[in-house]
Amino acid sequence: MWLSFRNKDKEAFSSEGIDIERLPQHIAIIMDGNGRWAKRRGLPRSMGHRAGVEALRDIVKTCSNLGVKVLTLYAFSTENWRRPKEEVGVLMTLLTDYLRRELNELHENQVNIRTLGDITYLPLDAQKELAKSVARTRNNPGLILNLALNYGGRAELTRAFQKIAEEVEQGKKLPREINEELISSHLFTAGLPDPDLLIRTSGEMRLSNFMLWQLAYTEIVVLEQFWPDFNPKALLDAIREYQQRDRRFGGLKKE
Ligand code: IPE
Ligand code: IPE
Ligand code: MG
Repeated sequence: MWLSFRNKDKEAFSSEGIDIERLPQHIAIIMDGNGRWAKRRGLPRSMGHRAGVEALRDIVKTCSNLGVKVLTLYAFSTENWRRPKEEVGVLMTLLTDYLRRELNELHENQVNIRTLGDITYLPLDAQKELAKSVARTRNNPGLILNLALNYGGRAELTRAFQKIAEEVEQGKKLPREINEELISSHLFTAGLPDPDLLIRTSGEMRLSNFMLWQLAYTEIVVLEQFWPDFNPKALLDAIREYQQRDRRFGGLKKE
């Protein structure tokens, strides 16, 4: 079990220059660059996605061992449906296989699996595996693993505004009672802290419709490496970089 490594890992992490007391509570990752990774090797894009899943496994494990509270992974966007049907199929199959293969180990390690996005558009197989994974790990107190699937920040906000409008229409809420807390509580991430650290691999300097509301004050680290090359060492580097940032939230630097 991963947890049995926890104390040893903690010492190792401290010796790597990570301040374990000031970890980002919530890490969000835009896992980008699978296709370019494959292309560079003369392989089909599907092989890049396959390699991407291996990277993902290690990162989930490391976050769990570190004691990060929430890890949100952008796995499939509302815009990714624009890709060829075959590629979408490969991504969905990889997701389903990942859950089938890893659920036991994730559960043993107290990981709490959740989804962000409207998953009713996913193939039935994937939906079933997700429902099973979410139900089985529901009460786990460990790492909250958010899988963003058919997720888009604008779609999430639109859905939230529709729900709030219904509550107003039904007389449950007054327009003046609409505030930031109320909006946050209608997002897929209701009840979770906003990400402290956003990592995007493969160099693109954009959000690609990811967590538009929640990222308001998140520290951003963009890395040149492609997602399949991302590994626990790179994650620790990103956390170290995060720990050097001065988060002012619009205020002034603490003297
Ligand atoms: C990220 O890699 C995986 C998903 C978007 C699902 P890409 O498939 O976007 O890889 P690039 O950006 O084309 O290299
Ligand atoms: C963002 O990557 C979506 C995911 C990682 C799931 P994309 O590759 O889809 O984003 P763009 O097209 O480069 O903006
Ligand atoms: Mg991409």
